[in-house]
Amino acid sequence: MELISGVKNLYKMGDEKMKEKILKALYGNKGNYISGEELAEKFGVSRTAIWKQINTLRNEGYSIETTNKKGYCLLDNDNKLVPIELISNVKTKTMGKNILCFDSIDSTNNYAKQIAYEAPHGTTIISDEQVGGRGRLGRGWNSPKGEGVWMSIIVKPNIPPTEGTKMTQIAAAAVCMGIRNTTGMEVFIKWPNDIILNGKKVCGILTEMTGELNQVAYIVVGIGINVNIEWFPEELKDKATSLLIESKEKLSRKQLIVSIINEFEKLYEDYIENGNLSNTVNICRKYSAMLGKRVRVIQGNKEDMATAIDITDEGVLMVKLDDGKEQLIMSGEVSIRGENGYI
Ligand code: BTN
Repeated sequence: MELISGVKNLYKMGDEKMKEKILKALYGNKGNYISGEELAEKFGVSRTAIWKQINTLRNEGYSIETTNKKGYCLLDNDNKLVPIELISNVKTKTMGKNILCFDSIDSTNNYAKQIAYEAPHGTTIISDEQVGGRGRLGRGWNSPKGEGVWMSIIVKPNIPPTEGTKMTQIAAAAVCMGIRNTTGMEVFIKWPNDIILNGKKVCGILTEMTGELNQVAYIVVGIGINVNIEWFPEELKDKATSLLIESKEKLSRKQLIVSIINEFEKLYEDYIENGNLSNTVNICRKYSAMLGKRVRVIQGNKEDMATAIDITDEGVLMVKLDDGKEQLIMSGEVSIRGENGYI
C-alpha cells in the first residue's frame, strides 16, 4: 500500500515534503519546463537532490520529461489522481480539502476508519485500486486499477446516529448530479444506495458510522463508481455496467471526483447548517429509478411486492403493498426490475 500524498502527520516528513514541493512546482507549471537549477535554488537543496526526487516521482507513475538544457516538465497524464490537483480544483470550504491518494489499498473505507479520529472533517481517501473493496451486506466490491472512482469521505456531523442514513441520500444525490454534470449521462438513483444507468448498477455507496448512542463521532461515506471498466466478470455482467460501456467513451475520473465533492458539500452544508434536506430529497425524487415502479421489498425473511410511491421529506421510501397498505421503508433491501432481473 503506497501513499502518494496526504495529511501532514500521516506520512514521513523530509524527503516526502521535498517531493511534494517539487510536484507542486511542476504542477503550477504543467506542460512547461523548469530547470533543475531553478528548483534547487527555490527549495535550497542541490540539483542532485532535485534529480533524486524527480526519479522517485517517475517511479510513482508521474510522466516527467527531462532534457539537459531545459530541465523538467510534467506532462498531462489525465488518468493519474493527484491530491494537489484535485484539491486545487474543488470549490469547497472543507470537503476534499484534505485528500490522500493511494496506488493500491485493501479498502478506502477501511483506511478512512483507521484515521477517522485524527483526520479533519472532509478528508477524502481515494485509491486507484482496491484489493479488498467492500460492498453492502458483507459483499465484495470489484475495484480494478485505474478504472473507477473508489473513494471514501470522512464527515463529522453533529447529529444523532438515527440521522446517519441521510448521509447516504446526500451522497447518492451528489453522485447523481456529479455524473450528470460531467458526462450528461442520464443516471438515476435507486433508493437509497445505488446509481443506475440503462437498467444496470453503475455506482454503489457504503456508509459506515461510529459514535455514541446520541452523537455521531464520524461517518465514512464510501463511493464506488464504475467509470472506465471495459468488462465485468460473468456473475456481475447482467447487473453491473460502467460509464465507458454505456457511452463508449473513456471519461476523466478527475472531473467526476471534483464535481461529486462540490455537490456533496453543498447538500451536506444545507442539511447540517440549515437543517434543510429538501434539495437532496428533490434530487432523489426527480432522478428516482423507483418511483411509480414495481419493487420487491425484502425485510428480514419477509419478501413483498409493492409499488414505490414517494420519498418523504425525511428521505424515507414510501411503498404501496399489493394488499393496498402503505408502508414506510427506513432501510432494508428494495429491488427494482433491471434489464436482466431484479437489481
Ligand atoms: C454497494 O453497493 O454494495 C456499496 C459499494 C461501495 C463501494 C465503495 S468503493 C469505495 C469504498 N471502499 C469500499 O471498500 N467500499 C466503498
